[in-house]
Amino acid sequence: MFGFDRPPEEQAKVADEDCSEMTVLVTGSTSGIGRVTACSLGRLGAHVIVHGRNAEAGGAVVDQIEDSDGTAEFVRADFADPEEVSALAEHVHDSVETLDVLCNNAGGLFETTEPTALGVDPAFHINHLAPYQLTVELLDSFDSGSRVVTTSSIAHRGTTLNLDELLDLTGLSTVAAYCRSKLANIQFANELGRRLAAADRDVTSTSFHPGVIPGSEFGRAFPGFSTELWQLFDQSPFTESVEEGASTLVYLTVSPEVADTTGAYFARRREIKASPAARDRESQRRLWERSAEILDNEEPLAEFAE
Ligand SMILES: NC(=O)c1ccc[n+]([C@@H]2O[C@H](COP(=O)([O-])OP(=O)(O)OC[C@H]3O[C@@H](n4cnc5c(N)ncnc54)[C@H](OP(=O)(O)O)[C@@H]3O)[C@@H](O)[C@H]2O)c1
Repeated sequence: MFGFDRPPEEQAKVADEDCSEMTVLVTGSTSGIGRVTACSLGRLGAHVIVHGRNAEAGGAVVDQIEDSDGTAEFVRADFADPEEVSALAEHVHDSVETLDVLCNNAGGLFETTEPTALGVDPAFHINHLAPYQLTVELLDSFDSGSRVVTTSSIAHRGTTLNLDELLDLTGLSTVAAYCRSKLANIQFANELGRRLAAADRDVTSTSFHPGVIPGSEFGRAFPGFSTELWQLFDQSPFTESVEEGASTLVYLTVSPEVADTTGAYFARRREIKASPAARDRESQRRLWERSAEILDNEEPLAEFAE
C-alpha cells in the first residue's frame, strides 16, 4: 500500500548511490529490519557483515546478497555473552581495514527479566550493553566519514532509566525492560556522537525509530497467541512494512544528506525530537560511565566527556 513495500533504498532515495567501496556491519541481520537492510545495502554494492545467532538464517542472507551486487559474510555472536561480542569486534579488526558503518540493530523484547551474567536484565544487556561494548571495541576500525546508527524505538517515550536501581529487577516487566533499553539506545547514541565530535574523529552517531513493524520476528517472545495476533497487524494501515522500517536505517547508513549529522534521532527518514529523558545530557553521561562500570571496562573516550 502507498509504495511502502518498495525496496528501502528507493524509499530512502539512495538507489543511485554506489556503495562498492563500503563495508557495513549490520547487527541482527538474520531477520526483520536488519535482514532487509543488509540485502538493500548488498544491492547497492556494499560488503555486508551479517550478524545474529541463527547461522542458517545468516547463510541465507549472505546468499541473497551475493546473488545481487554485494559481497557478504556471516558472523555469529550471542549478544548476551560479552566474550562473543568481543570476538565479533576482533573479527572485524582482523578482516577489514575500515568499518564504514556500524548498524547497531540487534535486539528485541525478551521472555524474561531474569538477570544475565552481568546482573542486569536481558533487554538492557542485549539491546544496550552489547552495542555499547561492540561500538567502543570498534572505535579503532572507524575512519573519517564512518557512521554509527543505532535502532531505538518510539517505546522509549514515557519511560525513565534509574541507574541507581538498575540491578534491582524486582517487579520489572519484560515490556518495561524493553522500553528503558530503547531509551538507553538514544542516550548512548547522543553521548557517543558528542564524545566523537569532541575527539575530532569525524565519525557520526544517530539513532532512529523504525516504525511499528509486525512483519519482522519482533513478536517472537510475546506470550501465548499474541505473536500470531501481532503479525496479523502487518496488513494494518497503522503499522509499517519491514521495508519502510529498514528505509530509515538505509537512509542513515548511506544518504549524503546525513553524512555530517550527529547526535540526532530520526523516524520516517526525518529528524524528530526524542523524549526529554532521552535528550538529558547528564543522564547520557551517567549511562556511558555506568555501562563501562558494569562491563568492567575503562571508560572509553573518557577525556572527551563534557
Ligand atoms: N518490529 C518493531 O515493531 C520494532 C519497533 C521499534 C524498534 N524495533 C527494533 O528493531 C530492531 C530489529 O528488530 P526486528 O523488528 O527486525 O526484530 P527481529 O526480526 O526479531 O530481529 C532481531 C534481530 O536481532 C538478533 N538478535 C536478537 N537477540 C540476539 C542476541 N541475544 N544476540 C545476537 N543477536 C540477537 C536476531 O538474530 P538471531 O535470531 O539470529 O539471534 C535478529 O537478527 C530491534 O532493535 C528492535 O528493538 C522493532
